[in-house]
Amino acid sequence: MNNSFLEIETITKTFGKQTALDNVSASINKGELVCVLGPSGCGKTTLLRIIAGLETADSGSIVIDGRDATFLPPSKRNFGIVFQSYALFPNMTVQGNILFGLRQKRGMTKAAMVEKAREALHLVDLFEHRNKYPRQLSGGMQQRTALARAIALSPAFLLLDEPLSALDAKVRAKLRRDIRSIQQDLGITTIMVTHDQEEALTMADRIIVMNNAVVEQIGTPCEVYDHPATPFVANFIGTMNTYTDAGNICAIRPENIEIADSTDHDTWAEIRSIEFKGALTRVHGVLPNSEDVCLDLPSDRVKDLNLMEGSTIHLSMPKDHLRKYAVAA
Ligand SMILES: Nc1ncnc2c1ncn2[C@@H]1O[C@H](COP(=O)(O)OP(=O)(O)OP(=O)(O)O)[C@@H](O)[C@H]1O
Ligand SMILES: [Mg+2]
Repeated sequence: MNNSFLEIETITKTFGKQTALDNVSASINKGELVCVLGPSGCGKTTLLRIIAGLETADSGSIVIDGRDATFLPPSKRNFGIVFQSYALFPNMTVQGNILFGLRQKRGMTKAAMVEKAREALHLVDLFEHRNKYPRQLSGGMQQRTALARAIALSPAFLLLDEPLSALDAKVRAKLRRDIRSIQQDLGITTIMVTHDQEEALTMADRIIVMNNAVVEQIGTPCEVYDHPATPFVANFIGTMNTYTDAGNICAIRPENIEIADSTDHDTWAEIRSIEFKGALTRVHGVLPNSEDVCLDLPSDRVKDLNLMEGSTIHLSMPKDHLRKYAVAA
């Protein structure tokens, strides 16, 4: 059975000499939350705007729910959208902002609109605050209002462009969970842009990792974390040790390097510093070829082994955790 909701097919987009998207393809399933993750300027917003119809691609096509949407105007694509800046009307209350969105949809009675707004307000837990103005709300509440406005229209899918990046860490963590649970309750297909790898790992069903206008990898959080397809993905997601060996780039995570007996090891390092992080301790060292390496060890183990700055440790790099990439010619 074909479960695909959105097909992004070989999209290319340039702005003058700047290539924003270079032959980008992805398939997004019904009900999925997909994060588009990548560094600033890699083309995330451009991709979202092309999906929305706010921008036209130079080539390629967009298929929404089985229908070629490449040349459809935004109003015919049936999505809700939330931006980084809340984009609320300051002279309207929370409820007023949501009703404004609903009024753009023709054929709804006043009573139906009020009912839709009420449902959306409850969903984002703002019903009690419905008569407040944006300036009376925290950033998180403003962003929840923007989300309610998008959801109230009962769109077929949601587009979120860094909706959490203007919020402080604690509010952000809470809203991540809120957005994810609302998304799952509604079963609504959602594409969320972020440059925060932790956000993508914790929220997404699948992640589209982009760099420099191209897709580097598409996979579940576990897949991109455990089996990064390219050195870029390896370095961009989580912490990764990389070093060169026999013409390859080798990559291994700090938690996967083991301290070996001196008789059975792949390499060794001299400890430069030890950083206590609670349950884990991060040990920074230098390899014989002068490259840096770091290990995460249970803090008890570091104590038992009596590790200290200046001491030498023997390391083993388990094959099933060691990724090798050919150095690009
Ligand atoms: N309207 C435009 N005119 C000219 N260049 C543009 C335009 N929109 C985007 N670009 C360029 O296209 C590239 C991709 O931009 P885009 O906004 O999609 O990146 P992004 O991944 O969303 O970055 P950020 O994380 O900073 O939001 C950048 O080099 C940008 O300067
Ligand atoms: Mg952007």
